[in-house]
Amino acid sequence: MPERGLRFEDGALLLLDQTALPREERWLRLTSAAEVADAISRLAVRGAPAIGLAAAYALAVEAERGGDVRAAADLLRATRPTAVNLGWAIDRSLEAHDRGDSLTGHADALAADQLDQDLRIGEHGAALFEPGARAITHCNAGALATGGAGTAGAALEAAWRAGRLAKVWVDETRPLMQGARLTTWELGRAGIPFEVVTDSAAGTLMARGLVDVAIVGADRIAANGDVANKIGTYPLAVLADRHGIPFYVAAPESTIDAGTPSGDAIPIEERAPDEVTATGPARNFAFDVTPYELVTAIVTEAGVRSPPFR
Ligand code: MRU
Repeated sequence: MPERGLRFEDGALLLLDQTALPREERWLRLTSAAEVADAISRLAVRGAPAIGLAAAYALAVEAERGGDVRAAADLLRATRPTAVNLGWAIDRSLEAHDRGDSLTGHADALAADQLDQDLRIGEHGAALFEPGARAITHCNAGALATGGAGTAGAALEAAWRAGRLAKVWVDETRPLMQGARLTTWELGRAGIPFEVVTDSAAGTLMARGLVDVAIVGADRIAANGDVANKIGTYPLAVLADRHGIPFYVAAPESTIDAGTPSGDAIPIEERAPDEVTATGPARNFAFDVTPYELVTAIVTEAGVRSPPFR
């Protein structure tokens, strides 16, 4: 099993601090929703499903300490706007609270579901790989990003175990290097061969015939199949299209937002300019939108969805 990076113990949420990886494996012990909200904001925990689970456990922490669960829900919801899983998990937890259910038991059930869904996504995704495939991925969509086994990351691991994957090209993923720091950490632990490339190298790799398949995660999938994911996903999809390379998106069904008609309506987080440069003005878009026409298929726990996605 991959490192899950998130667990609940003695009324506290334990988080593997993703800002410190791969330098240091440091666990944070969080005992209030405010602490968890801060950890989500500064990406100590990140990845769409993982921040949903962290928020669900934060509400459990708050309920156990007799705090205001609704105020905590508002605080957590405001941390990151793009990933639909955050609001989804908070809404499910509030429903459970209104029913009088234990929020800890509820968060545990969400975590168990996530792991189960991820493993199924992995199996469905791996079946799309031709034997010996050289894959490219962007950002981190492994176990760290879901609190389970990962989405695109689970597909890569399952493909590796099935003998279908030769290597992974890892986009470094500027500005916060989730690819170079986190995906490499996970692939290394799984014994999967990889090489890091700068985000701008994908075209060269593809033009040289060194990439067979692209697979990424998602933060929100609109009803028409447009996909919001880490900034740099859209240009990767354009390049894959240009070179006739399949471009797969792996995500749980909870990432599909039927209430958002198209990518235009997806709120895109902008983060502090100093994450990009300390020396001048900068614009720091955290996500971009890949139009559905560029997506070969969407892999969920339910199977492989091919166009038309609507
Ligand atoms: O800003 P981050 O690191 O939270 O962005 C994460 C991503 O873009 C992931 O690809 C996405 O959440 C999918 S995680 C399975």
